[in-house]
Amino acid sequence: MEPPINLVIATRNKGKSSEIKSLLSGFPVIIKNLHDFGPIPEVKEDGETFDDNAYKKASFSAKILGFPALADDSGLIVEALGGAPGVHSARYAGENASDEERCLKLLHEMNGKSNRMAAFECVISIAVPTGVALTYEARCEGLITEKMRGSNGFGYDPIFYYPPLKKTFAEMTREEKNRVSHRGKAFKELKEEFDKIMVWIRQQTPKIF
Ligand code: IMP
Repeated sequence: MEPPINLVIATRNKGKSSEIKSLLSGFPVIIKNLHDFGPIPEVKEDGETFDDNAYKKASFSAKILGFPALADDSGLIVEALGGAPGVHSARYAGENASDEERCLKLLHEMNGKSNRMAAFECVISIAVPTGVALTYEARCEGLITEKMRGSNGFGYDPIFYYPPLKKTFAEMTREEKNRVSHRGKAFKELKEEFDKIMVWIRQQTPKIF
């Protein structure tokens, strides 16, 4: 039997990293985090799309660490704000702002707006050290609330209401969120192809003797 594959989760976001670990549980991979490797340069997330940034993060990490790497680039798209915060979701209220400050800023921008439609989008990129990558993407539609609700999850979860379950993401258990979220859906596709992905990773990763 083939040994499990080492896979680096290329994110420093603790909320994301713990969701990704739970989504990959039961799969034949040894998960490594960026902090397992000591200080390494940070990749600039200056792409114009989630796709650009996911690829940048995964391929940069795979190249400098010498292991296959998985990165997720995601964010919230709000219709009444012309698609903001979009690719700038992580830094919407400034570089060192907290999740709560980002949520409050967005609620403030949405003050008085009747169109509350929004969607989370997620692109997952899996890259090997030569730089080639596979991508998976998904979207989850919902509404921006009037105030923060719930304390689970991370990021904009307390202000993203998902009508089919009548809850914000922050009011859901992790299992509920994983079943319906942008990240959960992208991982569902990835997991369905995982056997092929493992073969692809092995073919692309030169053996070191
Ligand atoms: P990045 O993909 O690391 O650039 O950051 C994405 C940002 O989008 C996060 O820091 C969150 O603010 C937000 N975001 C992405 N996915 C989620 C989610 O599942 N829930 C809440 N916020 C999210």
